[in-house]
Amino acid sequence: MNPVIEIENIEKIYRKKSRKGLFKRELIEVRALDNISFNVEEGIIFSLLGPNGAGKTTLIKILTTLLLPTAGKARILGYDVVKEGGKIRKHINAMLMGERSIYWKLTGYQNLEYFASLYHIPRKVAKVKIDKLSEKLDLSDFINRKVETYSSGQKFKIAFAKSLLNDPKLIFLDEPTATLDPRAAREVREIIKQLNDEGTTIFLTTHNMNEADELSDEVAILDLGKIIEIDTPENLKEQIHTSESIVIDVPFIELRSKDKLLSDIRSLSFVSDIAYSQVVNGNGNKGEEKTKIRITTSKEINLSNIVNLFEKNSIPILSINQEKISLEDVFLSKTGRLLSEDTSKRV
Ligand SMILES: Nc1ncnc2c1ncn2[C@@H]1O[C@H](COP(=O)(O)OP(=O)(O)OP(=O)(O)O)[C@@H](O)[C@H]1O
Ligand SMILES: [Mg+2]
Repeated sequence: MNPVIEIENIEKIYRKKSRKGLFKRELIEVRALDNISFNVEEGIIFSLLGPNGAGKTTLIKILTTLLLPTAGKARILGYDVVKEGGKIRKHINAMLMGERSIYWKLTGYQNLEYFASLYHIPRKVAKVKIDKLSEKLDLSDFINRKVETYSSGQKFKIAFAKSLLNDPKLIFLDEPTATLDPRAAREVREIIKQLNDEGTTIFLTTHNMNEADELSDEVAILDLGKIIEIDTPENLKEQIHTSESIVIDVPFIELRSKDKLLSDIRSLSFVSDIAYSQVVNGNGNKGEEKTKIRITTSKEINLSNIVNLFEKNSIPILSINQEKISLEDVFLSKTGRLLSEDTSKRV
């Protein structure tokens, strides 16, 4: 066993001033990371899975030496994140802001040339390197066009190429597929797997449980700044002694009117967990909002019992689907909430 990341009791508290009334200001503390400890072994794909506001980006920023922890220790490739940042940055790379980390007025090639110069890579060596990356990531069709003309998948690929310029042993990817369409996201997942096959350790964050499931050798589930589970996706799913999940979409309904329905469903003998979240489609208009209800069940399920309860409570069903147990159910069983819930507004 050879850990490339060692995290011991890391804590991060953000302090910010907020206005209270007209003249008063109060200091608000947000505990973004609460006593985190785990190791990541060399050569694996490791995913940090958690809802909005869980603390994923905060942890990645600490591990990539962009942010100091409030307390605790972390070592990357054996180097201390607080005292040996320079050594760490030489051997790792990170993609934190995706397409926003490259210059849109330059071509893809000019971007890579510029960032190679920041690593003091001689021009000739950089050219060979960029050509290799272009071949590997299939950039040749667009690398000589200005970035502003690219699709988001193409922008992503240049940002990704940028993060490979120093041949990192370990790469951090913060929500690599969040802004991509499904086809580009699939392509990116293939690139991540290929890179890992070639020996690069991958640390990624996501709030997409299918992505974590598909890609990862190991998953840590982060919620409200705490690690609640850490294991292989298979082991995590095995913990749940249920067979299926039912996902029901209904038109947006206010919290108050849902209480009765939820307690009715909860009292059915085959139901083990239930949670819901508001899902916004498309441009975020209220009219586009849905409420997604997820019910984890045991084997002897009776679907019509559930449907009847919606009728009884006069709530129309937009769609109803049975799904295999996923990491979403693991999250639900541990927290009583869904991964799609936004936890960033907590204080
Ligand atoms: N600079 C900051 N000042 C104050 N609070 C912050 C700051 N950055 C993050 N936070 C808070 O810390 C918590 C964790 O934020 P973080 O960005 O690490 O979460 P995340 O898991 O990356 O979320 P997301 O999925 O939305 O990217 C949130 O409650 C967030 O509002
Ligand atoms: Mg984030």
